[in-house]
Amino acid sequence: MSKETVEEISEARRAAPGSEACQRACASADADEEGVTDGLREQWFVACTERELRRGKPLGVRMLGIGIVLFREQDGRIAALIDQCVHRGTRLSAGRLDGGQLVCPYHGWRYDGQGQVVHVPSIDGARATATSNPYPFRQRALPVRALDGLVWVYLGSGDASARPVFRMPMREQAPWQSYYMVNTFDGDISMLAQNFMDVPHTVFVHDGIFRSSRGKPMEATVATTPESVEVTYHDGDDSIGFCLAWLTNPDRVALEHTDRFIAPNVTRCEYRWGIRSGFLIVSQITPIDARRSRVYTYIAYRFRLPRWLLRLLRPMLHLYTHLVIQQDVRIMRAHREGLDNAPGFRPHNVRADVVHVAIDRLIDAVKRGERVSVAHLGEKTVRFEL
Ligand code: FES
Ligand SMILES: [Fe+2]
Repeated sequence: MSKETVEEISEARRAAPGSEACQRACASADADEEGVTDGLREQWFVACTERELRRGKPLGVRMLGIGIVLFREQDGRIAALIDQCVHRGTRLSAGRLDGGQLVCPYHGWRYDGQGQVVHVPSIDGARATATSNPYPFRQRALPVRALDGLVWVYLGSGDASARPVFRMPMREQAPWQSYYMVNTFDGDISMLAQNFMDVPHTVFVHDGIFRSSRGKPMEATVATTPESVEVTYHDGDDSIGFCLAWLTNPDRVALEHTDRFIAPNVTRCEYRWGIRSGFLIVSQITPIDARRSRVYTYIAYRFRLPRWLLRLLRPMLHLYTHLVIQQDVRIMRAHREGLDNAPGFRPHNVRADVVHVAIDRLIDAVKRGERVSVAHLGEKTVRFEL
């Protein structure tokens, strides 16, 4: 490439809507429009499962209102770039991979995993040539991690390595077995985290298949820290799901039920019957934009049954959890539609809504980049009718 050509291109770059500097500005402008604040950006979010990211094909996802393209380089490493070609702005995830490099579908500009443009066919011809004078074009590459079968992306401007990634409990720890479900919900992280931690709704939305009304009260302790809301239920006789107590609780021991919200986007619901039976649901909520989210639901279980029987029951368990989550998908859609119907809605909380209020408060604090006031930390008892 001649010096003159580079200068020509550099001039074009200043005006290019997809240049890195412009990308940052555009990203934050989009974010404001989408109602996503900076505090929420400084987190690792799940972008896809490792399974969804096939070799040889780029994958486009949307997180916090921004399109991201993910792909595997030649050596299997995962790259994530803002999904916009720096040449004329085309969506890169509509392109293809060649030798682990991402090729824009419009004029064939080619990117490596760091977002560096490594070939411009209209200048250098059909074949890429090694040059000591690389192109002065680069798309923004985002920090990526692959852990527990999930691919995580960090969109913030802070130090990604200083932020923890939430690890999936009991994964690959025999005799625990686990799997993921992926669903798109019409709800933001606050609506969804509250739903996943909400026991009263289960006797309405999941009546008959997860929990049925017993016409008696339930008590729980709610402990709020600056990072979490932990709810410990005090009802060893409570039963959940399946109509299959023989599967979950053959020893007829008391149920220990603990739910935890880890700010700003993870819930973990844990049911234990003694030390040999357990059922866990971890929900990782990734905001697509201010109104919709993708939820990665991790189910882990161990039951006191022979392996062959557990294998036979596995499809049934998958179907069961799928049916339960579809009920939540539908109720969240109705919730979203109700909220959209008249703007400026304010909830009317009752004393059974302590968990909802605590979760909302923590998420709001993260969005503002603040900590909740100490007055809201500590333990409370909540009592509600089921
Ligand atoms: S828009 Fe991507 S190569 Fe032209
Ligand atoms: Fe539910």
